[in-house]
Amino acid sequence: MARAPQPAARPGTEVAPGKSPNPDTLTVTDNRTGRSYEIPIQDGTIRALDLRKIKTGPDDFGLMTYDPAFTNSAACRSKITMIDGDRGILNYRGYPIEQLAEHSTYLETAYLILYGELPSRQQYDEWVYNITHHTIMHENLKQFIEGFRYDAHPMGMLISTVAALSTFYKEASQIFDPASRRSQQFRLIAKMPTLAAFAYRHSVGLPYAYPDNDLSYTGNFLNMLFKMTEVKYRPNPVIERALDVLFILHADHEQNCSTSAMRGVGSSHVDPYSAVAAAVAALYGPLHGGANEMVLRMLREIGSKGRIPEYIKRVKEGQVLLMGFGHRVYKNYDPRARIIKQIADQVFEVTGPNPLLDIALELERIALQDDYFVQRKLYPNVDFYSGLIYQSLRFPVEMFPVLFAIPRTAGWLAQWEEMLLDPEQKIARPRQIYTGPARRDYVAMEDRV
Ligand code: SDX
Repeated sequence: MARAPQPAARPGTEVAPGKSPNPDTLTVTDNRTGRSYEIPIQDGTIRALDLRKIKTGPDDFGLMTYDPAFTNSAACRSKITMIDGDRGILNYRGYPIEQLAEHSTYLETAYLILYGELPSRQQYDEWVYNITHHTIMHENLKQFIEGFRYDAHPMGMLISTVAALSTFYKEASQIFDPASRRSQQFRLIAKMPTLAAFAYRHSVGLPYAYPDNDLSYTGNFLNMLFKMTEVKYRPNPVIERALDVLFILHADHEQNCSTSAMRGVGSSHVDPYSAVAAAVAALYGPLHGGANEMVLRMLREIGSKGRIPEYIKRVKEGQVLLMGFGHRVYKNYDPRARIIKQIADQVFEVTGPNPLLDIALELERIALQDDYFVQRKLYPNVDFYSGLIYQSLRFPVEMFPVLFAIPRTAGWLAQWEEMLLDPEQKIARPRQIYTGPARRDYVAMEDRV
C-alpha cells in the first residue's frame, strides 16, 4: 500500500546563551534546568513534538502538551472549511455560506466540498447523474432494517445500516485507489437518504417508497419519505428548496466531534463506510447533532412563554443546558442559525405557524440579554431553529439528527480523503497522563481483603 514520505521530527533547538532568537520562534526557558529552547512558530501554532527536547535529563521522556477535548490543539491542516468564531463567519472552500445558501444546491456544494472547486455544467451534470444512479440499495439491507423494533431510534438504525454497507462493497477497502474512493463517495452520498427514508418508513409501518430518478436530491428524499398511493410524488417546491438549503448549511464544519471521529477511525485505514458509521455515532450525541432533537424536547417541556423564566433559572443552577445554544468555536451568532431562521419563515408560510416558534423566539430574546449567557457567549447554534422546521415538515423528532447526518456525509468524506492524502497524517494515537496505581504484584483470591 503506497504511503507518502513522513517528514523528520524537528525537535525544538536549545538556544545558545547570548544568541538572539529568530523572530518566528517561541523561546521557552525550563526553570527546572535553566536551559532555554527556541521553538518554531508556524501558522499560529507550535508543534507539540518540538517540546519533547525539553528534558531534565537523558532519561526524561520530554514535555508533552495536555489538552483534554482538544480545546486548543490543531489536529490537521485543512483546505475545506474555515470558521471565524468571533466574527460568525463560515466558508466552504472560501465561499461564504450565505452565498452558497442563496445560489447553490446541496449537490453542487457537496461537489465543492469534496473536490475544492465549483463544478462546470458538464462536471455538475455528471456528478448529479452518478449520485442519482446510486440511490438504490441492495435489497438485503431491508432485512437489517426489519430486524429493528418499530420504536428503534433511526440514528441507531442508520449507524448499523451504514456499517453494513461495508460488507456489500468489498472494494471499498482499497482506500488509496482514487477510483474506488470516488465510487464509495457516490454510493454514500446517494444512499444516506435512502437508508434514512427506509428507517423512517419502517418506524411508521409504511411500505418502502423507492427512489424516483426524475426528482432532485431532496425531492427524491421527500418522495421516499412521504409518497403514499399516488402514482408519482410531487414535492412542494418551497419545502424541497428549504430542505436543500438546510442540507447546504449542514454539509461540513471543520474538525467537529463527528468529523474528528471520521478522521480518527479513518486513520486506521478502515473502509469509508465503517468510518462514516463511527461519525454518525458521534453525531448522535445530544451535545452534537442530537441537539436539534433535544431542542424540540426542551421547547415542548417549557410549554409556554410564561414558563421560560423557570427554565432559565434551572439552566443557571446548572440543572439543565439551554439546548441549541453555545458552541466551541462560535463566540458570536452561528451564521447558519441566522439563515435557518429565514428559511423557517418560508416553510411556515406553507405548513402553517409552529406554536413552538414563539417560545423559541422569546427564549432567544431573553438569553441574548441575560448576563449568564452573554458572559459565556452562548448564542443560538445551527440546531436551535432547525428542529422547528423539521417538526413543521412532519418529521418525527427522532429523525432530526438523521437530517443532520445526511448532508454532513459530504463533509465527512472530504475530510477523510484529505486526511488519507496528507503526508503529515498517520494513525491517530494520543498520549496520556497516567494517574493510576504504581506497579504492584498479583494477589491470589484467597489472600485478598
Ligand atoms: C453542533 O463543533 C461543531 O462545529 C458542532 C456543530 C457542527 O456543525 O458540527 O456546529 C454542530 O454540535 C452544534 C452544538 C449543538 N449542541 C448543543 O446545542 C448542546 C448545548 N450546547 C452545549 O452542550 C455546549 O455549548 C457545546 C457542547 C455546544 C459547546 O461546549 P464547550 O465549548 O465545551 O463549552 P463548555 O461546555 O466548556 O461551556 C462553557 C460554559 C460552561 O459554564 P461554566 O462552567 O463556565 O460556568 O458555558 C456553559 C457551560 O456550562 N454552557 C452552557 C451551554 N453551553 C455551554 N450553559 C447552558 N446551556 C448551554 N447550551
